[in-house]
Amino acid sequence: MAPSATLTLRPDAKGIAHAARLLRDGETVALPTETVYGLAADARNGAAVARVYAAKGRPSFNPLIVHLPDAEGAARVGVIAGEAERLAAAFWPGALTLVVPLRPEAGIAGIVTAGLPTVGLRVPAHPVAQAVLRQSGLALAMPSANASGRVSPTTAGHVLDAGGGLDGRIAAVLDGGACPVGVESTIVGWRDGRATLLRPGGIPAEAIEAALGAPLDHAGATASPDSPGQLASHYAPAARLRLDATHAAADETLIGFGPGPAALNLSPAGDLTEAAARLFDLLRAADRLGRPIAVAPIPRHGLGLAINDRLARAAAPREG
Ligand code: TXA
Ligand code: MG
Repeated sequence: MAPSATLTLRPDAKGIAHAARLLRDGETVALPTETVYGLAADARNGAAVARVYAAKGRPSFNPLIVHLPDAEGAARVGVIAGEAERLAAAFWPGALTLVVPLRPEAGIAGIVTAGLPTVGLRVPAHPVAQAVLRQSGLALAMPSANASGRVSPTTAGHVLDAGGGLDGRIAAVLDGGACPVGVESTIVGWRDGRATLLRPGGIPAEAIEAALGAPLDHAGATASPDSPGQLASHYAPAARLRLDATHAAADETLIGFGPGPAALNLSPAGDLTEAAARLFDLLRAADRLGRPIAVAPIPRHGLGLAINDRLARAAAPREG
């Protein structure tokens, strides 16, 4: 794909309307939040979210945070109750992400949650992020707007950053100046019913503990913003999974890629962006049939690397 120029938009009414239109059309747009710049896509459009992964060059799918303009909107995407409701009331809008049970009826694409039954939700305070959320009417999936392996950007210049930045890889960047917090949001989830710090960030753990009136559990030593994939457990189908299968055995469900007779096909046209967008939904659909699953070979380049990474994890023998 020939790179096309990335637009730089001003954070005025015209720029925000333009960004909202691009997002509704399934494009990716980088925009400022109070923590860091995020790379936004419509969270209900799996192909748009796949383009976020393609632009970042992420070698693996990690669940993404879904951003809403207010707590009421967030409560329509995830179940916000009990301690989560107290934290939402205390810190939203702001630099806090809550990992809560997903409402399947919200229509969030499977690639956003990487197939998990939970969803990370945040209501950002930044006026530009707020304006785009309200103008577009979309729930926006937004990882930090850096290429994979690079630090999170806190200016529009960092996002584009010649050599390793996203210039030419995304439709537009909304230039809203420097991010005031400058580090990612604090992430809190619940493990065995106990509030757990999954990632330290812009809101100090002590402030969260004060709001809860109780100490937070801490995620394992592997949790850090630099190893985000370690924060979440991975979706794995109950069924046995066989990879690089050119044919399915009689008792297997075949997930195909490219032209062929498979009942379930990641992309009959052999398009990796389409395949990424459908991966988790098709794995779940195949799993529901209750038979072993055979998956056709997926090319090992571009988004195919992330697809193969996730398939390999899903096929690996279960740990404990
Ligand atoms: O400040 C921020 O949080 C920025 C701005 C743009 O909002 N976003 C950000 O996204 O840092 P990202 O993708 O770079 O990091 C998101 C983190 C990942 O480490 C991911 O594992 C975790 O959130 N996460 C998201 N959903 C999760 C879930 N359902 N369970 C566990 N962890 C989850
Ligand atoms: Mg990041």
